[in-house]
Amino acid sequence: MAKTRSRNLRVGILTGGGDCPGLNAVIRSVSKALIYQHGATVYGIYDGYAGLVEHRYERLDARDVSNILTRGGTILGSSNKANPFAYYPPQKIGGRHEEPRDASARCKALYKKLRLNALVCIGGDGTMAIADRLIKKCRLRIVGVPKTIDNDLPLTDYTFGFQTAVQTATEAIDRLHSTASSHHRVMVAEVMGRYAGWIALFAGAASGADVILVPEMPYEIEKVAAFVKDRSRRGKKFSIICVAEGAKPKGGKMTVERIVKDSPDPIRLGGIAHKLSRQLEDMTHLECRATVLGYVQRGGTPCAFDRTLATEYGHHAVELILARRFGRLVVLRNGRIGSVAIDRIAGRIKKVPRNHMLVRATRAVGTCFGQ
Ligand code: F6P
Repeated sequence: MAKTRSRNLRVGILTGGGDCPGLNAVIRSVSKALIYQHGATVYGIYDGYAGLVEHRYERLDARDVSNILTRGGTILGSSNKANPFAYYPPQKIGGRHEEPRDASARCKALYKKLRLNALVCIGGDGTMAIADRLIKKCRLRIVGVPKTIDNDLPLTDYTFGFQTAVQTATEAIDRLHSTASSHHRVMVAEVMGRYAGWIALFAGAASGADVILVPEMPYEIEKVAAFVKDRSRRGKKFSIICVAEGAKPKGGKMTVERIVKDSPDPIRLGGIAHKLSRQLEDMTHLECRATVLGYVQRGGTPCAFDRTLATEYGHHAVELILARRFGRLVVLRNGRIGSVAIDRIAGRIKKVPRNHMLVRATRAVGTCFGQ
């Protein structure tokens, strides 16, 4: 396979979408491998695609990416709103809101100005959908690395960030047990995940939640209420419910918290825990409380699994660049690192299958999925 001559190699790197634990570990892995092994020049682009359009970047040397393996967030900044194909210029204070425009030519201009051989885009489905358009319209040579706490990217077993989010959510739900048992309450914990229930399923299973509600299996509130009441009748003094932000009642809709107009995916979910808690209190006459875990799931130091996965992903991204295999997304499939074409995943979501092994295992120990 033809290899890019590593001398004079120039590579840009950006992080797009919501932040997640392990982003810095990938930045470190890609940058150090390129600098140490290939004497390459690496540019960090700030705030995802916003920096690519606005030409905000900085050259990264090895010292810039030292000591960041364990750090949460991203040293480059990120944006889950910036879209070069529908770009909203930053709004001036008191100024009028401008219409979005196609600023993809600005991305190409920066790519040329920096004389890049490749651009590494670390992100989720939104970032990859834009990467795909930049490849096709602007002929940019892009390699993708999959991140998201939601674990909803298809064709990869895991995205980095997911295991850390699950661990954080699990520990938080463990702590809810204290008040639940002391006050004999029903505690409803809302976790993130957008349209997929991966975090709810894994954190719910790991924390021994009595009820797990995920978007893939619309629930019947009567079934949840009956289950909780029955537990109480049988002398169980409390119940824990782990609900995904995207969970919805059978025949009903997801709970939308806000609409972010200038975002490629404008819907932000949230609020289901409070809704459920009120409904269940009315129906069961048991005391219910809601907790929304929110952004703590995205924060903090990555767990060991995410650090190692991020390091392997970064290393493979460099190998793809050297092999001139552009337009590829690094993935983990059946435990092996490999890659797939970015356009195979763009715009698609990996959902929890109803017969997933963990669904069957938790059902077998008596967990209710609201059906
Ligand atoms: O995709 C990651 C995620 O945290 C989702 O779980 C959540 O629905 C969304 O991002 C929240 O987005 P924002 O940061 O715009 O509030």
